[in-house]
Amino acid sequence: MTSDILYLRLAQELAASIEQGLLRVGERLPGLRNLSRQKGVSVATAVAAYHYLETQGFIEARPRSGYYVRARASLEEPAQSQPAVQPTPVTGQAMVLRLVEASADPAIVQLGAALIDPALLPTRAIEQALVQAARHHRVRACGYEFSPGYAGLRRQLAKRMADTGCRVHPDEIIITNGCQEALTLALRVVTRPGDIVALESPTFYGLLQAVEALGLKALEIPTHPRTGLSLDALQLALEQWPVKACVVVPNFSNPLGYCMPDSQKKALVELTARYQVPLIEDDIYGDLAFDHQRPGCAKQFDRQGQVLYCSSLSKTLSPGLRLGWIVAGRYREQVAHQKFVTSLASATVTQLAVCELLESGRYDRHLRSLRNALAQGVSRMIETVGQYFPPGTRITRPGGGFVIWVELPEAADSFALSQQALRHGISIAPGPIFSASGKYRNFLRLSCAHQWNSRVEQAVATLGRLIQANLAGEL
Ligand SMILES: Cc1ncc(COP(=O)(O)O)c(C=O)c1O
Repeated sequence: MTSDILYLRLAQELAASIEQGLLRVGERLPGLRNLSRQKGVSVATAVAAYHYLETQGFIEARPRSGYYVRARASLEEPAQSQPAVQPTPVTGQAMVLRLVEASADPAIVQLGAALIDPALLPTRAIEQALVQAARHHRVRACGYEFSPGYAGLRRQLAKRMADTGCRVHPDEIIITNGCQEALTLALRVVTRPGDIVALESPTFYGLLQAVEALGLKALEIPTHPRTGLSLDALQLALEQWPVKACVVVPNFSNPLGYCMPDSQKKALVELTARYQVPLIEDDIYGDLAFDHQRPGCAKQFDRQGQVLYCSSLSKTLSPGLRLGWIVAGRYREQVAHQKFVTSLASATVTQLAVCELLESGRYDRHLRSLRNALAQGVSRMIETVGQYFPPGTRITRPGGGFVIWVELPEAADSFALSQQALRHGISIAPGPIFSASGKYRNFLRLSCAHQWNSRVEQAVATLGRLIQANLAGEL
C-alpha cells in the first residue's frame, strides 16, 4: 500500500475513535514514535496522519507537548448552491474596488481580500533572488522577454506540472501577468461579446469582473462546498444554452474551498469535450493542500487540447511578482498573440528571479511551511467563528487554500455588515460579490492566511457582535 493511502487509513481510524468517544476531548494522543511503533507505520506516515486530522479539526498540536483531541465546532456546512441557471450580465462589482483598497491599509484587519499575511511570505528569499537576477543577467534583465516568456522559467514550470501528472512541453507554456491575465486572455480567445460562460456559483469575483469587462453573460452552475461543480447541472445547462466556455477552480476553489476528486475532473473534461466547449481551468490554489498531497489538475485528462490551464504564484510566493502562466492547448497561438498585443511581455527580472527560486528548491521549502501555517490559520478561524458567530451559522472546511465561506442566518445582510465592519477596522468579503446576479446576501468569505494573534481573534469576536446586531435589525 502506498504511504499516501496508509496515512489516510490511519487518520480515518483515529477520527473514528474520536467520533465514537474512545478518545475524548482534551486527551493526549500517542507521540509520533509511539504511534508509528503501535501501528507499524513510518514516522512520516504518522506525521501525515496527525497533520490531516489537524486540518480536519479533530486534533490540535500544542507546542512542546504533543497532539490533543480538540472540541470540534459543531457548525454544519452550507448546502449545494441553487442559482437560477439563466445567463445574466454581471453587475454590482463596484464594491470589489473598495475591498481591494481596504487591503492596502495596515490599520485594517484583513479578513476580506484573499491575501497572504506578508509575515508568511519568503520576502528575504525573493529579495535575494531579484538582486541576483539583476546582477547575473544585467543586460538580459533590462530587455523584453517576449511572449511566450523566459525559456528557463517555462522549463521549471513544465517540470512542476509533470510532477503532478500533467505532461506539457515548455513551449506550450505562456508566461502572463498573474492568473488574472491568463484567465482574461483565455476568455478573450474563446468567446465574443454577448456569449455565455458557465461558472461555479459562488465564484471568484475577479473572474466575474473579467466576464463583465468582456461583455459576456454568466451562467451560474450549482456547486457543492465539498464535491464542487455539479456535473449533472452543467450537462443540463450545456443542453439548454449555447455555452461558449466553462471556467472552474477545481483545486481548493475560491470561495468554497472544495477539491474535486480526479474522477470528477476527468468526467468534467469528457463532458465539456462532448459539447465542444473549451474548459478554462484555474489552478492557482493547487499547491496549497494541507495534507501536502498535491492534487492533480483537469488538464491531465485533456485529449483534444480543449483545456486552457491557468495559474500563478500569487497565492504561494507573492502576488506582487505578478507571475502567472497559461497552457492553452489548441488555442496556444491565439493566446500568445493576444498576450503580445495586450502587454507585449511580462517583467523580465521577475521571470529570471522566480526561475532561480524554483530551480534551487527554495520555493518548495517555503511551500512546506506555508501549507502548515495556512492549515493552522483555517483551523483557528473555523474554531473562532464557532465560538463567536450566532447559532445557525454554517461554514466550509477546506482541505487547502486559505478562505472559508460562511453562511449566516437568512436575515443577515453582509453588505451592511461589511460597511459596519470597516468602521471597526475589519474588512470582510460580502457574499453578493461572488455572484453575477447578486445572490448570497447572507454569506461572507473570510480569509485565514494570518499569523494567528489576539488582534485577529478580537476582529472575529467583534464581527460576531456586529452580526448579532445586524440580525436584530440594529445595523
Ligand atoms: C481563483 C483565483 N484566480 C485568480 C486570481 C488572481 O490571481 P493573480 O493575482 O495571479 O492575478 C485569484 C486571486 O484572488 C483567485 O482567487
